[in-house]
Amino acid sequence: MRNIKFFDTTLRDGEQSAGVNLNLQEKLEIARQLERLRVDIIEAGFPASSKGDFAAVKQIAETVRTCSVTGLSRSVRSDIDAAWEALKGGAEPRLHLFIATSPIHMVHKLRMTPEQVIEAAVEAVKYAKRFFPIVQWSAEDACRSERPFLAKIVAEVIKAGASVINIPDTVGYITPKEYGEIFLYLQNNVPNIEKVSLSAHCHDDLGMAVVNSLAAIEHGATQVECTINGIGERAGNAALEEIAVALHIRKDYYQVETRLNLQEIKRTSNLVSKLTGVVVPPNKAVVGKNAFAHESGIHQDGVLKEKTTYEIISPELVGVPSNSMVLGKHSGRHALRNRVEELGYTLSEEEINQLFVRFKELADKKKDITDDDLVALIFEEKFDHFNEFYQLSSIQVQYGTNQIPTAVVVLKDGKGNEIQEAATGAGSVEALYNTLERCFQTAVTLLDYRIESVGGGRDALAQVFVKVRVNDVETSGRGTAQDVLEASAKAYIHAMNRAVMIEAMRGENEKVATT
Ligand code: KIV
Ligand code: ZN
Repeated sequence: MRNIKFFDTTLRDGEQSAGVNLNLQEKLEIARQLERLRVDIIEAGFPASSKGDFAAVKQIAETVRTCSVTGLSRSVRSDIDAAWEALKGGAEPRLHLFIATSPIHMVHKLRMTPEQVIEAAVEAVKYAKRFFPIVQWSAEDACRSERPFLAKIVAEVIKAGASVINIPDTVGYITPKEYGEIFLYLQNNVPNIEKVSLSAHCHDDLGMAVVNSLAAIEHGATQVECTINGIGERAGNAALEEIAVALHIRKDYYQVETRLNLQEIKRTSNLVSKLTGVVVPPNKAVVGKNAFAHESGIHQDGVLKEKTTYEIISPELVGVPSNSMVLGKHSGRHALRNRVEELGYTLSEEEINQLFVRFKELADKKKDITDDDLVALIFEEKFDHFNEFYQLSSIQVQYGTNQIPTAVVVLKDGKGNEIQEAATGAGSVEALYNTLERCFQTAVTLLDYRIESVGGGRDALAQVFVKVRVNDVETSGRGTAQDVLEASAKAYIHAMNRAVMIEAMRGENEKVATT
């Protein structure tokens, strides 16, 4: 059986999703989880694009030991130099070089002739080979490129030393049949093509990213590029979990193997969704909340009699837990630490101690602490207070049916100053957010507000997700508390702290346009 390599680009193309900006710690956590999932390659970012990206790629390359870590690079020496500096400490450094090859991109974006594009691509691959043992070359907008030109440039970059050739459907335009044909065309028209690996990279603008990736595999691709939950530019990239499970469940048809640990899929999906703030739709294949729910009576009856009547994927295959462990107020630090480890989180001694305090506080108010509660607390402890400028000291909100909602907030800023403000609003959340805006002394536009309960029960934890715009920075925040208003305040402050950090990194850290 052929082996298919999974190239995960959640941290690069996925992070290009609107409103998603992960900090270093969050990226590192996702990279560690991708390592557990056993993807083959992690694209950790675009090192030349910003100092933040450079630092994240470097740290991920130095941390991850059992996957190859790569970074994106334009076909220019300065990008390649930055990528080498970031990636050289990796277990198997590789470079991902790209240049556009379609007439539309060459004429309007690059303003280069086809000959100039070939020259730049070849020169970049040759230069990259001085440093990198593995160079992957991508023809941006390959699917709208002229096939003879595509074959010509691919032949040249192979001669120059590229060992992986990626054929992106950058704008999500191709159909499965046509995509398969491009792979066959290249195999029939490019000398030495059998010496390199062919890779698929699909976007989902027409909802065909997964099926196109599968078509590429059927027609000779041995690598697929995808993201967790299908996040990415515009409509997103091909969803890793869908391709992986399709290959597994229909092994009889595809006849390929992967090295993925499918049981880590659900956990990876949850982590990426929580950290990016991008919701997984309930009906999403493989990882949606309803992916294994049988609703109709006929289906339920069938499944009770024999699971395979209506269930082609077992929840256990992708790591959906069949039971949730419950801790309570008598559980000790040891039990807590064990459960945290069983859930797959690595916490330092100090983080465990802080988590234990939060756990005890919650256990005093809530009888059963479930795995979901614990994960919510871990997230708060591990990620939500990272590099924070504003810290919540207290809130007080007054609401009555015939009164004007009023909020008072006390915050501490990064310089140790205490800030106290009060304001009103049409509702309690608006009053709270108006007050916080006064504290920040900056206009904040609320783009989205979502609230959900962590598990069931009237005493459940509330989790609030917000998307905001501060000046021209769009970012997200989340907050967890038993009280919905406290959770709302925490989410707003979390988003503001991210915006402060992003703005602080601006200037020296300007993102360049990628694809
Ligand atoms: O979609 C695309 O073309 C890309 C390339 C940079 C590989 O993401
Ligand atoms: Zn892409």
